[in-house]
Amino acid sequence: MSEYILEMRDVVFDYPGGIRALNGISMAIEKGKKIAVLGPNGSGKSTLFLHFNGILRPKSGKVFYRGQQIKYHRDYLVNLRKNVGIVFQDPDIQLFAGSVFQEVSFGPMNLGFSIPEVEKRVVEALKACGIEELKHRPTHFLSFGQKKRVSIADVLAMDPEVLVLDEPAAYLDPKHEQKLVELLEELCRKGKQVILSTHDVELAYAWADYVFVLKAGRLAAEGTPQEVFQNETLVKEADLRKPQLLEICDILKQKGFVFNKMPRNIPEFREELLIYVES
Ligand SMILES: Nc1ncnc2c1ncn2[C@@H]1O[C@H](COP(=O)(O)OP(=O)(O)O)[C@@H](O)[C@H]1O
Ligand SMILES: [Mg+2]
Repeated sequence: MSEYILEMRDVVFDYPGGIRALNGISMAIEKGKKIAVLGPNGSGKSTLFLHFNGILRPKSGKVFYRGQQIKYHRDYLVNLRKNVGIVFQDPDIQLFAGSVFQEVSFGPMNLGFSIPEVEKRVVEALKACGIEELKHRPTHFLSFGQKKRVSIADVLAMDPEVLVLDEPAAYLDPKHEQKLVELLEELCRKGKQVILSTHDVELAYAWADYVFVLKAGRLAAEGTPQEVFQNETLVKEADLRKPQLLEICDILKQKGFVFNKMPRNIPEFREELLIYVES
């Protein structure tokens, strides 16, 4: 059994018209790690994600799920998509039903669950996304951020093993971004595999166990957030920016502050400060 949940080997993908979106991507996603895929607009994040559940098929190269090469016939894909759920970048592409309830119930209904089970899953998914009050609202009048949360509920209601979220934080206000991060933490605690894409270096640095950096359809770097963001050359070459917390830590280090462990968020930072002050 492979320790990797998803793996790509030399994946090349062209859109019609010969646009090369992925130019030889090899990556292995370790089971149980919180994964962020970072990269500027157009670097290939969405295209990469659509390969994870076989919506797109590589021109060349291979994709593996749990050590098994993905096959592209209907039965295999139906089963794969039960296990790997994708929240699209654009909720307008994902959402199609009239009301939020209809929308979120579609997945579990399709999986053949009983009506009470469907109802239960929908309510839980709406609750997890903080949108219970939107249950009977027509989806097409919702704000972009609300739609984004409905599309996350869509996938949660299916209860897949792997959740792939394409720019889940885009268009969310600070409160809902915080809630999203808490939700992702909880999902990870429950043993779900979460993979997200973002161009937000702060989010990736604070949340992920491991990051992959895309640039122009290629993998520009990978590593722990500390490894990636403390490497000045890499940050520059991959068109990234240093997270603000790291900038602050750099200033403190220049002033003689010694960190036991580079903090990734404010609670960790506070802990380091207290250790320093008390020593
Ligand atoms: N449906 C499409 N048809 C043609 N080109 C596309 C399509 N979707 C994306 N592309 C192109 O593929 C490249 C990668 O895009 P994408 O995967 O959306 O990047 P990202 O998600 O990182 O912004 C870009 O050059 C983009 O213009
Ligand atoms: Mg995208």
